[in-house]
Amino acid sequence: MAINNVMVIGAGQMGAGIAQVCAQSGFNVLLHDRDKNALQAGINGIEKLLARNVEKKRLTKEEKATTLGRLTPSHTLEDAATCDLIIEAVVENMDVKSAVFKEVDTHAPKHAILASNTSSLPITEIAAETKRPDQVIGMHFMNPVPVMKLVEIIRGLQTSDETYETIQMMTVQLSKTPVEVKDFPGFVSNRILMPMINEAIYTVYEGVATPKDVDQVMKLGMNHPMGPLTLADFIGLDTCLYIMEVLHEGFGDSKYRPCPLLRQYVKAGWLGKKSGKGFYEYS
Ligand code: CAA
Ligand code: NAD
Repeated sequence: MAINNVMVIGAGQMGAGIAQVCAQSGFNVLLHDRDKNALQAGINGIEKLLARNVEKKRLTKEEKATTLGRLTPSHTLEDAATCDLIIEAVVENMDVKSAVFKEVDTHAPKHAILASNTSSLPITEIAAETKRPDQVIGMHFMNPVPVMKLVEIIRGLQTSDETYETIQMMTVQLSKTPVEVKDFPGFVSNRILMPMINEAIYTVYEGVATPKDVDQVMKLGMNHPMGPLTLADFIGLDTCLYIMEVLHEGFGDSKYRPCPLLRQYVKAGWLGKKSGKGFYEYS
């Protein structure tokens, strides 16, 4: 199936990145968010990153203008009616995602594929909310989307081979590397990454070392580009907590118990970089 028109739902850090990469790769993109300010912030962020690419001579001024010309803000999910692929990137919460999929399923044309950028939630369950479960799939981009090469592609129990092949091809068109993964809590990436981040938070909670020192150990000792607490702030502590809860509930194993300090930070509204405070402060 040919994909030309894409709708991205959620204009936060992931949605904006996905919209940018799709527009840069030649797709027409509608970017939607239920929050007008978030939508504008998403578009401003894309403009800023494209301008930086022009500055760095990775993009010409004309390519920047063409890319922005392919990007249109959307204020209603009804716009899905013109799209071949809808990629959902709203908060990591099953109720919110279910409601979005239910509604978008009523607007999208029959042939359209509905993809979720979920970090951990079951694609099989999301698919069951729609009348086209064979055309629902997980398309898990990594943050920051314009930089990271991987897309985990998650097949729900109902996902058809045709849907899988279309999304695999599209991923390659975005200059990303697809990896096929089965529908298990956290898939591969977050089943491995998030317990490490949670353990780093426990290390701080138990007073073993400061956040800065925990990060230093993992950066200098393990050659990680970012320490786990810097990375947690970068991902968003709310998202980290949601993912740990999915792992904890999905596997029923206490080894995935979210650290109480992570819960406390999220309750305090300390969500990391996006809220200005997490394990570190951001201006
Ligand atoms: N958006 C877009 N591009 C960005 C960016 C952002 N937020 N941050 C950095 N970049 C790009 C810039 O183009 C920059 O190059 P220029 O300065 O030439 O423009 C380039 O990346 C390098 O950036 P920096 O020199 O500022 O910093 P760095 O060398 O430390 O690289 C990084 C930044 C690529 C983010 C690197 O620190 C890194 O790889 N960190 C780990 C990221 C990671 O693990 N991501 C996965 C998160 S988990 C996930 O996504 C799954 C999930 O479900 C939670
Ligand atoms: P974010 O908080 O930056 O953005 C979420 C956006 O969704 C917000 O702008 C919000 O206004 C919007 N939104 C919420 N409910 C909506 C609705 N019903 N309709 C339309 N828009 C709605 O979050 P994010 O970090 O971009 O994460 C989005 C998704 O991507 C989550 O499922 C997350 O697990 C996943 N993800 C995150 C990362 C990461 O590193 N942050 C990496 C990969 C995948």
